[in-house]
Amino acid sequence: MPSEKSIYNPNPAISRDAYISSMAEYRKFYEESLENPEEFWMRVAKQFHWETPADPKKFLQYNFNISKGPISIKWMEGASTNICYNLLDRNVRNGLGDTIAYYWEGNHPDDYSRGLTYRKLLEEVCRFANVLKDHGVKKGDRVSIYMPMILELPIAMLACARIGAVHSIVFAGFSSDSLAERMFDCQAKVLITADGAWRGEKPLYLKALCDVALEKAEEMGHTVEKCIVVSHLKRVTACAEDHVEQDIPWTEDRDFWWHEEMEDKEPACYPEWMEAEDPLFMLYTSGSTGKPKGVLHTTAGYLLYAATTFKIVFDYKPGDIFWCTADIGWITGHTYVVYGPLANGATSVMFEGTPFYPDNDRFWAVIDKYKVTQFYTAPTAIRALMKFGEAPVLKHNLNGLKVLGSVGEPINPEAWLWFYRYIGKEKCSIVDTFWQTETGGHVITPIPGATPMKPGSASFPFFGVKPTLLDESGVEVKGEGEGYLVFSQPWPGMMRTLFGNHERFESTYFSKFPGFYCTGDGARRDADGYLWITGRVDDMLNVSGHLMSTAEVESVLTEHHRVAEAAVVSRPHAVKGECLYCFITPNENETFDAKLVSELKKLVRERIGPFAMPDVVQHAPGLPKTRSGKIMRRVLRKVALNDRNVGDISTLADESVVDQLFKNRPADK
Ligand code: WT7
Repeated sequence: MPSEKSIYNPNPAISRDAYISSMAEYRKFYEESLENPEEFWMRVAKQFHWETPADPKKFLQYNFNISKGPISIKWMEGASTNICYNLLDRNVRNGLGDTIAYYWEGNHPDDYSRGLTYRKLLEEVCRFANVLKDHGVKKGDRVSIYMPMILELPIAMLACARIGAVHSIVFAGFSSDSLAERMFDCQAKVLITADGAWRGEKPLYLKALCDVALEKAEEMGHTVEKCIVVSHLKRVTACAEDHVEQDIPWTEDRDFWWHEEMEDKEPACYPEWMEAEDPLFMLYTSGSTGKPKGVLHTTAGYLLYAATTFKIVFDYKPGDIFWCTADIGWITGHTYVVYGPLANGATSVMFEGTPFYPDNDRFWAVIDKYKVTQFYTAPTAIRALMKFGEAPVLKHNLNGLKVLGSVGEPINPEAWLWFYRYIGKEKCSIVDTFWQTETGGHVITPIPGATPMKPGSASFPFFGVKPTLLDESGVEVKGEGEGYLVFSQPWPGMMRTLFGNHERFESTYFSKFPGFYCTGDGARRDADGYLWITGRVDDMLNVSGHLMSTAEVESVLTEHHRVAEAAVVSRPHAVKGECLYCFITPNENETFDAKLVSELKKLVRERIGPFAMPDVVQHAPGLPKTRSGKIMRRVLRKVALNDRNVGDISTLADESVVDQLFKNRPADK
């Protein structure tokens, strides 16, 4: 039986054919990438088309030290290109026109399935780029996208990239409030959505939700001019006949059906040549103050990094079938459903459904159906599927698999071992990829043909990435030890700024330790030099791979008229990784009752989204505060765990509140 302590060497059959086939080879490239990043990435850049070539003398310019002036990161200054051209036209020109870019698999196995070649994808993208142009979208304009996992989503993204518009995708599980706030923040010109989608047996009416969001954005003072809607509900067989166009709320002159707009459009559109540092897209991520941050990625560097990490970390070879289960609404989907695979001329599976519908073997069925060779998913999904045992897995042939990937949160050794043994049959490499919306691509990860694996360790940095561990006072932790995980030099795929707020970018990521990009995560280095991510060091938590901040949830809870104060902490959860545990102090003369609890849960769902739903809402007549009024969160975390070892509470203004909180704990389910 594999154990947590063991080291798992890559299968020799994988190493033999791999791009990087030993640790010695990894080290050689790694050292070069740090010593001479210009040379290293210039070589990578050669495979792509540059309308204006880069100036080798200005390949990389940056300042990581806030005390020396504004933080800036520039790769390939002076070069110009178009990322869509590189992903599509270039591949078609290289003979991949008839290669499948995407196999699309719907929510229900009986839904029509669809394969899209590179040639067809290019035509569709060009037609939609022409639609956007006709609606007045220009270079630099922001386009919000709120869509299910359908092929029109990558088509819309690439159409934006083709004409130089900046896409801002909002995961379609976010509430109308969240969508409105994001459209307002980026001042979106157009919104692209679908009438709806099925999630398992549940229909989601996305257009209706968009209407509410559009109205809210209007109230906030911003008008989104146009809304383009894909008609999706009708074409999926699992859907009842009565979901027809007429049921979808519609505003003349603002709303347009995607298929009607596409009808007469030319399947060709000259690409807009973009400067290397022109924005490509923005993607909101949670911030510890509560207001989401619009992480901005630019053109050239992101292309190099998405392409290289995809190729090396998944060891993708022509003919392989790659499947990343992440929704495109998150960074994982941006980089490893769209940009990384297409930059490599790869064939991917795109899946609209869930792992549990119509049955708990759906993932394994899809792997078998398309003969998937690389499968990339999240620990929370693995933990949820482990519960059903091996039987659902054994129904399918998974022998084509070579590389298994994990992302979003630390993978516990038990889930790692299950993945390794039952899905990978002890023959596959597991890549536990640590990265962030901000990093653009993998930054700490094993390499499948090279790295001996330790279950639960993200292991070593990718090329160009220089991690350091720092203690609280900024002193480097060398050798074995634990500290803040920071990076001391830029890699091409890292974020460049926060949209419209460079100051917040500098203060969030560069002010704690001058000279370093601060991830907000902690890490431990073991005696063999392996890095183990220990989790967030700020007030952020990760529920089923969705990053959120406790402040964000607190500010929603305190909106309720009966609530005086709220404090939210994270509690470990067997499947979700972490869950939300909320402490509520009602207003004077207000009672705390079941009605309040359900109203608060509903409020969080409405304001943020269903995935942010708190697991526990408990009454806190008082919160554990220091004399200066700071809430002692470690005490609340102990209460959430029902662990009486609360540690030193002598600095609390009123120690008796702690007992009270333990008394008020609702019974654990
Ligand atoms: C945070 C970033 C980019 C992936 C999707 C989430 C946590 C991510 C791992 C991993 C341990 C991980 C970190 C990170 N995280 N991958 N392999 N091991 N922790 O992107 O929403 O920007 O969240 O997810 O805490 O900071 P995100």
